[in-house]
Amino acid sequence: MRDAQATTIYLKDYQVPDFLIDRTALHFEIFDSHTLVHSTLAMRRNPAAKNASAPLVLDGCELELEALSIDDQAVTESGYESAGESLTIHTVPDSFTLRCTTRIYPQNNTSLEGLYKSSTMYCTQCEAEGFRKITYFLDRPDVMSVYTVTVDADSKRCPVLLSNGNLVSTETLEGGRHRAVWEDPHKKPAYLFALVAGDLERVSDTFTTMNGRKVDLHIYVEEKDLDKCDHAMLSLKNAMTWDEEVYGREYDLDIFNIVAVDDFNMGAMENKSLNIFNTSCVLASPGTTTDAGFQRVEGVVAHEYFHNWSGNRVTCRDWFQLSLKEGFTVFRDAEFSADMGSRVVKRVEDVGLLRTAQFAEDAGPMAHPVRPDSYMEISNFYTVTIYEKGAEVVRMIHTLLGPELFRKGSDLYFDRFDGQAVTCEDFVKAMEDASGMDLGQFRLWYSQAGTPQVDARGEYDAEANTYTLTFKQSCPKTPGQPQKEPFHIPIAMGLLGDAGALRLELKGEAPNPDTADNTHTVLHLKQAEQQFVFENVPEKPVPSLLRGFSAPVKLQFDYSRDELLFLMQHDDDGFNRWEAAQQLGVLALKELVAAHQNNEVRALDERLITAGRNLLNDDSLDLAMVALMLTLPTEAYMAEVMQPVDVLSIHAARMQARLELATALKEEFTNTYRTLSRRQGDYQPSAEQIAQRSLKNLCLQYLMLLNDEHSLQVCMEQLDTSDNMTDRIAALVALVNSEHEPQKALALQKFYQDWQHEPLVINQWFQIQATSHLPGTLKRVQELLNHPAFEIRNPNKVRAVIGAFCGQNAVNFHQTDGAGYRFLADRVIELNTLNPQIASRLLGPLSKWRKYLPEQQALMKAELERIAAEPKLSRDVFEVVSKSLAD
Ligand code: TRP
Ligand code: ZN
Repeated sequence: MRDAQATTIYLKDYQVPDFLIDRTALHFEIFDSHTLVHSTLAMRRNPAAKNASAPLVLDGCELELEALSIDDQAVTESGYESAGESLTIHTVPDSFTLRCTTRIYPQNNTSLEGLYKSSTMYCTQCEAEGFRKITYFLDRPDVMSVYTVTVDADSKRCPVLLSNGNLVSTETLEGGRHRAVWEDPHKKPAYLFALVAGDLERVSDTFTTMNGRKVDLHIYVEEKDLDKCDHAMLSLKNAMTWDEEVYGREYDLDIFNIVAVDDFNMGAMENKSLNIFNTSCVLASPGTTTDAGFQRVEGVVAHEYFHNWSGNRVTCRDWFQLSLKEGFTVFRDAEFSADMGSRVVKRVEDVGLLRTAQFAEDAGPMAHPVRPDSYMEISNFYTVTIYEKGAEVVRMIHTLLGPELFRKGSDLYFDRFDGQAVTCEDFVKAMEDASGMDLGQFRLWYSQAGTPQVDARGEYDAEANTYTLTFKQSCPKTPGQPQKEPFHIPIAMGLLGDAGALRLELKGEAPNPDTADNTHTVLHLKQAEQQFVFENVPEKPVPSLLRGFSAPVKLQFDYSRDELLFLMQHDDDGFNRWEAAQQLGVLALKELVAAHQNNEVRALDERLITAGRNLLNDDSLDLAMVALMLTLPTEAYMAEVMQPVDVLSIHAARMQARLELATALKEEFTNTYRTLSRRQGDYQPSAEQIAQRSLKNLCLQYLMLLNDEHSLQVCMEQLDTSDNMTDRIAALVALVNSEHEPQKALALQKFYQDWQHEPLVINQWFQIQATSHLPGTLKRVQELLNHPAFEIRNPNKVRAVIGAFCGQNAVNFHQTDGAGYRFLADRVIELNTLNPQIASRLLGPLSKWRKYLPEQQALMKAELERIAAEPKLSRDVFEVVSKSLAD
């Protein structure tokens, strides 16, 4: 292992930079064999620095230095020292111009950070620390500079030359080359720098801001994808309008560009005025993209656009503050998506991700607070904790303050810190100052890792007409944090009586005269144990707790199954109606898991079947809700609530339950499917149509479990005649997970033939095969790695085959002989040298080895040890492997 280079960086060691860079001029000369980067930096000592004679230490990684001067005096080899990832110049004046030329090789850069080539296009990815792979610099977000960028390249191969800000001039050069000069008037950290050069076409539109600024909008793609930009453009304009209306934030330049690239480590990047997107997060058309794909494009386009304020205008002081921009921006994009589509569906999806992926991370070896205290490799901290839990923390502030005071707080935050690099503490303080609310204890959400456990119980006193809720909270230990203080937990709630929601009179609190509706409130749980007494409660109520999932905690309340059935029907909070169905499903599945483990035969609780029938027969219900409530808890969620995790029993139990539902409700599923198959008008990714398709396709999945000719026929017909990818993919998934072998093989072959020219569709084709729960999937996955359409250097393909198999196919990944683990370790070792970020991300499922059964633990641990023994581990993989094995 490479412990020599694996140093840990600590938040407590933060110091302001010794130098500042006021202006940055970059000149790129792009050639086929290499690129030259000439940089001119106007630098001076930071008046706020501790050491007024500190040497100049620049970041730089894998660079060939061709020239270096200070105030036009060459710095000779004795004047600087270059080691590891830095270059030190011992003596410099207080203020000076630093010039340097570096030579880089974008075509050999497989890490996809810095300047690299994606097919024929040159593009950059600088967050978090990629800029140091382009030139020597102070590559940290609190060094902000004004950029001028000159790009020279071949006119034919790279007719389009883009960078941040405004295009100020273009020029034809000798030798078939040309030049573009871009100037960004806004100061920014290096991680927001971007450059694109390639043969691209564009779709254009305009947007007029609330103060009448006309903004040119362009989406740059390969020519063949010009027909797939409309949805992203519409989403962008909707996001621009929404940010004006909801946050009062206006766009601040005359141009906004989006570029789509095939090879990209993440979803997209918010570079100032030049957002770069993974093609999977920007391209969409009904024929090639599923409903989920359309929603992803809308969400990611909005997310990157919202970063212009929450991230770019106000940026992070250091990378420990990453959630300052990511948590806030995820909260913003989630609210946007909720406003554009179905609020409850969006919340259910987000909570599903949080409770599986984030809770698992919080319980594993990589657990870290929303504001981490330390890291080895910052790329490992673009996590569900920073993003999703960070968004939940902002959502809790919103819940505690209410919408008006929250808006006052965000206005103050943007106003106070515009143009600065700040901290999570600055954000919380602005919220406190604007609202007058004390968020002292609330700050623990930023510093303490782990998912709080909240146990609640209720007691009705029929004599006194009081209802007492008692809460206990605790939080398990996480690496480096053996003990935790109680959190400030907002618990949105109501009490339900036979005739509906009851009026709430909390003892010791005056009724709120502002709210006409006193049937819901937010309790502030702050102590390890705390009681709330409600007075004048006329009957024994059923409490509806943690409405809308008002805090990222595990709540335990001993509901009877009949109470859950009651909440499913009568709770006036849509999220909690779904949650009641989930918890009912959890109770029923736990029973079946236990039976399976004891080799007993046990039938599914009848009440689930009755509830399912009622849902399907009630046409007053929202179709999206019906689809969500008919979906049993996922295997991933069951794994979260049953530890140690017995993957095979969970899978068997869930399959049994689904089959029993399908058998008992065959008629209802058939009728609902038939009714919903008739659609009015063209395909639209609207909430209404999406709901309709999701319920229809859920019916199809259930019917296909019956393994009969009629269902097969229905499925094949949907596959052959659908006009949209959502319905085709749903049919293909059902078929691939069925036992109709000849039809399956033919359908997969035909699908490939039909779509081989569409890489994003082929990725779905890969993923469907990699996530089949049937035996033999690992062998098929290994074959897919040799398929001509597979490329190990393309992260989307790696995610579609390897990531999907290891992360979304528990029953096959955990096959008892350990072949799944071996397969993953081999791929991680292969990717470790090609693309460390992707290698490290793939490791997630192995790193959580301690939750599984002893035999599985041993096999998983052995594979981690095999990776650890590799001679040259990247910092990314080293950090995850060493923390996973540490005790
Ligand atoms: N800031 C990006 C976002 O909007 C995240 C991101 C994109 C990123 N590409 C990356 C982070 C590469 C690390 C490495 O969430
Ligand atoms: Zn982001």
